[in-house]
Amino acid sequence: MPKLGVNIDHVATLRQARGGILIDPVEAATVCERAGVDSIVAHLREDRRHIQDRDIKLLIGKIKTKFNLEMSIAPAIIQIACNLRPDQVTLVPERRKELTTEGGLNVAANLKAVTAAVKTIEDCGIKVSLFIDPDQRQIAAAGKCGVKIIELHTGRYAIAEKPAQKEKFLYQLKRSVGYAQDLGLVVNAGHGLDYENVKPVAAIKGINELNIGYSIICRAIYSGLFKAVQEMKELTR
Ligand code: PXP
Repeated sequence: MPKLGVNIDHVATLRQARGGILIDPVEAATVCERAGVDSIVAHLREDRRHIQDRDIKLLIGKIKTKFNLEMSIAPAIIQIACNLRPDQVTLVPERRKELTTEGGLNVAANLKAVTAAVKTIEDCGIKVSLFIDPDQRQIAAAGKCGVKIIELHTGRYAIAEKPAQKEKFLYQLKRSVGYAQDLGLVVNAGHGLDYENVKPVAAIKGINELNIGYSIICRAIYSGLFKAVQEMKELTR
């Protein structure tokens, strides 16, 4: 059974919509831990659209499981990671206008820069994972960078609509897991996984951890909305 890491970025998205104190990703992280997650994930984006520096500081102090900081290889962000020392950093690509992390890091094309970033972060005593597409070229490049952990981007599998396409991308994931394991890498996976599509990925032998965010936060709203309305009705009666 793979471990489960929960990404709490979209709790911060809700907080940023009003900037208020009614919702806090740090509090949400403690709820996730009480529910039995194996790690908490948050992405400190360069544009700070959801998670803020303050959140990272508080999360590192509060999380009892494992804190996995997603981030780009921008020097200013690497400096923050080295100062704050999360348990793990996952390096991801970042584009200003994207709605979410659209693809994996192109390690093969940026071998020198990624290798240097990995070394700087590991020298600070932080484990490093690379978020990459399930593609042999990228996995081989990750191996060359000296990392011990990768996370395979499951987005193409998740959004495929036709069953044959979904099967094809699932097969690609399975082959990639095997290939990465042969290189001695720990293999995680995530992106776009939800309550409908997660089972076949969770069943792939050799996946260490699944990282899931958006679908869990969406489900939390539906599973809590009924009670939230009833409580307000009670107060306003
Ligand atoms: N893993 C990584 C590296 C990500 O960037 C994200 C999205 O922030 C996730 C997992 C979770 O993706 P989702 O929110 O679609 O479940």
